[in-house]
Amino acid sequence: MQELIKEIGQLKKERQAIVLAHNYEPPEIQEIADITGDSLGLSVDAARLDHPVIVFCGVRFMAESAAILAPDKKVILPRLECGCGLADMAKAADLRKMRRERPAAVVVTYVNSSAEVKAESDICCTSGNAVNVVKSIPAGQEIIFVPDRNLGAYVQEKTGREMILWDGACPIHDAIRAADIIKAKDAHPKALLMVHPECRPEVIKLADGVCSTGGMTDFVKQSTAKEFLVATEEGMLYPLRKAHPDRIFHPVAKDAPNAMICPDMKMISLADIHSSLEKMEPIITVNPEIADRARLALERMLAVPRN
Ligand code: 13P
Repeated sequence: MQELIKEIGQLKKERQAIVLAHNYEPPEIQEIADITGDSLGLSVDAARLDHPVIVFCGVRFMAESAAILAPDKKVILPRLECGCGLADMAKAADLRKMRRERPAAVVVTYVNSSAEVKAESDICCTSGNAVNVVKSIPAGQEIIFVPDRNLGAYVQEKTGREMILWDGACPIHDAIRAADIIKAKDAHPKALLMVHPECRPEVIKLADGVCSTGGMTDFVKQSTAKEFLVATEEGMLYPLRKAHPDRIFHPVAKDAPNAMICPDMKMISLADIHSSLEKMEPIITVNPEIADRARLALERMLAVPRN
C-alpha cells in the first residue's frame, strides 16, 4: 500500500492533479486526498482551484458539479458507476412537466441530482446552505423543492415557507427511525445527537444539531460535550474522530449490518485512483448546453452563504 500511495503522489505531481474526497469516502482515500469536505465545500473548491486536473472521490453528481463549475479543467471520477439513489429519484422530463403545470414557481434543487435536473432548475442548494437558499427567494413566491422530501420538510420548518416537495429520499438516511435514536440515546444518555437533514422529520425532531457533514465537525468544535451520536452515513465517523481525538462518537446504527453504509461511496479504491491518474480517465463530460444551464443554478447557489 505504501508503494501505491507514493506512486499516486508522483502521478499527482506529473499531472498537476489535485484529489478531492467527500467525508463519506473510506479512510485510506480521505488520507491521500488533498482536500476533504462536504458537498458545498468541495463545489466551492472545484470552482476556485487552479489545478488543470481534479480527481474527484465521491459520487457522480459531485464530480459532475465540479466539471460544470470548472469547464476548463479535466475532472476524473475514478469509478463512473458511483451513483446516488436519491439523485436517481428525479428525472428531468418529470421536472419539466411539473414546471409547465406551475410556470410561476421557482425550482430549488438539491445538488444530489443529475446535471439534466439541475439544468431545469433556478437555483441549487446543499444541506450546508439549503435554509439560506430558500430564504433568498422573495416571500410569496411559489417554490418547488427537488428531490429530497426530508431536507425539504426541514427547510420548510426552519424558514416557515410552504414548498411543493418532490417525493424522493436518501435510502440510507430515510431508513433511520425515531426508535433507533431512542435506543442509541438510552445506550449513551450523555451524548449529543447530530443529525443530517436528509433524515426523517421524526428523527430531526430529536436532534441537538442538524448539520451537513462538514457542519458536524464545526458543531463538535463549538460544543463542550464529550460524546456524540452521529446520524448519517458511517464514513463520517473517520473525519470526526480524526479532527476531535478527545471526543467519543457513536454511530446511530440500524440493526441490519451495513445499513448505514452507502455502497456508492465505498467503490473507489487507491488502485482506481492510481490507474485513473495513469490513464487520465474516466473523465466526466456534460453536454455543453445542459452544463451552461446547470452552471447558472450552481453559481446562484455559491453566491449564498452557509446556513
Ligand atoms: P453533505 O453535503 O452534508 O456532505 O452530504 C452529502 C450527501 O450526499 C449526504 O447524503
